[in-house]
Amino acid sequence: MKLEGKVALVTGSSQGIGQAIAARLAQEGADIVIDYRSHREGAEETLAKVEATGRSGFIVKADLGVVSEVRQLIESGIQHFGKLDILVNNAGIEKNADFWSVSEADYDAVLNVNLKGVFFVTQTFVQHLIETKRTGKIINISSVHEELPFPHFTSYCASKGGVKMMTRNLAIELGPFGITINSVAPGAIETPINTKLLNDPEKLDALLKNIPLGRLGKPQDVASVVAFLASSDADYVTGTTFFVDGGLLWNYQEQ
Ligand code: BGC
Repeated sequence: MKLEGKVALVTGSSQGIGQAIAARLAQEGADIVIDYRSHREGAEETLAKVEATGRSGFIVKADLGVVSEVRQLIESGIQHFGKLDILVNNAGIEKNADFWSVSEADYDAVLNVNLKGVFFVTQTFVQHLIETKRTGKIINISSVHEELPFPHFTSYCASKGGVKMMTRNLAIELGPFGITINSVAPGAIETPINTKLLNDPEKLDALLKNIPLGRLGKPQDVASVVAFLASSDADYVTGTTFFVDGGLLWNYQEQ
């Protein structure tokens, strides 16, 4: 077990990749703060998975686009477990629309969770580490679309590009405190964010042709890389993005 005695906060851990990360970090010995916004039953399901490993979980509801709720989330996690050591910024949403018809509300919804949320959750977590004079690990769940264009998802791409630069910047600024920060960038993973795609055989088939490993990823494929980055095995790794995409990102072929 790589994370014994550690406490991890996983944002957006009521489903999909976040739920798998919470379960995996618990398997490695960490206690988990489970964060959700609207899917309470999902958070309960995650709690059951965490407890099945023998570790403890604590559920907190927060809208990550609202800074006061972010502060509240971190404070209640610290109050419950006494400290936090690991932050996984996993919560994320996407909205499909032609660029010329994106509404202000949809733009704000995406940027608030995917970028503003990551910014202020990380800031509050770092304040806690600096105040308590401890090191820690931050893992951002980004996307292949921090590099790769994704037409009709421009607000999503803008948010993930922002996360990429936050990761690089903070590696420099937080390094002297012994705090590392890295991103994990999934490709196409079987999760609720992809429900539409999974139910569209034509689109799914076209996507699979672009994935050299020939399958969609599973949430566990992402969680295992997060577990590595959260552990002392990755103590000297910071400012880097790990693509977990079956080779999708670099697969350009001339026909
Ligand atoms: C998006 C998915 C998309 C995948 C591969 C992910 O970041 O959330 O909607 O299928 O990238 O393009």
